[in-house]
Amino acid sequence: MKILVTGGLGFIGSHTVVELQNKGFEVVVVDNLSNASIDVLDGIENITGKRPIFEEFDLRDKPKVEAFFQKHSDVAGVIHFAASKAVGESVEKPLLYYENNLGVLVYLLQELTKKENANFIFSSSCTVYGQADELPITENAPVKPAESPYGNTKQVGEEIIRDTCKVTPNVKAIALRYFNPIGAHSSGEIGELPLGVPQNLVPFITQAGIGLRDQLSVFGDDYPTADGTCIRDYIHVVDLAKAHVKALQRLLNGENDGNYEVFNLGTGTGSSVMEVIQSFERVSGQKLNYKVVGRREGDVVQAYADTTKANRVLGWKAESTLDEAMMSAWEWEKKVRR
Ligand SMILES: NC(=O)c1ccc[n+]([C@@H]2O[C@H](COP(=O)([O-])OP(=O)(O)OC[C@H]3O[C@@H](n4cnc5c(N)ncnc54)[C@H](O)[C@@H]3O)[C@@H](O)[C@H]2O)c1
Repeated sequence: MKILVTGGLGFIGSHTVVELQNKGFEVVVVDNLSNASIDVLDGIENITGKRPIFEEFDLRDKPKVEAFFQKHSDVAGVIHFAASKAVGESVEKPLLYYENNLGVLVYLLQELTKKENANFIFSSSCTVYGQADELPITENAPVKPAESPYGNTKQVGEEIIRDTCKVTPNVKAIALRYFNPIGAHSSGEIGELPLGVPQNLVPFITQAGIGLRDQLSVFGDDYPTADGTCIRDYIHVVDLAKAHVKALQRLLNGENDGNYEVFNLGTGTGSSVMEVIQSFERVSGQKLNYKVVGRREGDVVQAYADTTKANRVLGWKAESTLDEAMMSAWEWEKKVRR
């Protein structure tokens, strides 16, 4: 069965391609390499023994999207990762984010509505919840006003899909709200490759650990948490990738409950910034150079998932511990910098 993975050479996409191929799916990747390296194809092939079909083009090119679906009329499902994801950049360049994250989504859905049967998985984010009133966060928690154009593209993206599904019964979709993906494949063949200064905690820590960054700034230690630092739900990227296969299979097998569903993907456990630093120090055997500085605008205090729905309905559960995920991220960092 042929599956289109957009952004399939990126961080989460590449790990998902591996899990799809491991389950016998035929994968076609579309990526414009704006935030990925062509070498990722080798990594995927080294792990799975199979090279996915690869088409390099920009999905903002609508005629190319149309031509793609004519050529690959046998695509049975689409997992849509391709997007721009830097929160800070989205504040500077909102239209780039609306064009890339929403324009492309519309083009894909326009093609899918033409099909007799279409199955669509969307990369959403826990940012849609903002600072939730209750923890852990269930899928029923209200969506709060977005803090950035990036966050807004995820909220509006979900609405675009929901509205489309409402009037198009032949399109079935699942939005997956990721908490904080970290780590790398245990083979060391693929992992996260941030361009420039990492925006996320774990790649910053591993880069600081290897000497690429002088010091990690911890943004605030006066939050109302046990050690005063912010709490997030860090999920191993391989666990996250496996959840995509489960969600896709649910749609392909017609097990879905309505043609638009939403799932949280996290571990269910919150870890503070200090606990993440301690995890790094444990698995790497070295001290991390960090300094507590002032709070950062827009940071929520705590966010961790209630994963009951994904556990029960998808039959999926995150298995890796924070230390295991951190170890894989550290092994990957050491390999890339060798
Ligand atoms: N990484 C996270 O922390 C996180 C959290 C929540 C949600 N998400 C979402 O998950 C998805 C994947 O994230 P990721 O971390 O793997 O990002 P990534 O940047 O590593 O992967 C995205 C891929 O899409 C490609 N791409 C972007 N725009 C494209 C276009 N117009 N045409 C073709 N290819 C294009 C990039 O080259 C890249 O390979 C994104 O939608 C992101 O918003 C990520």
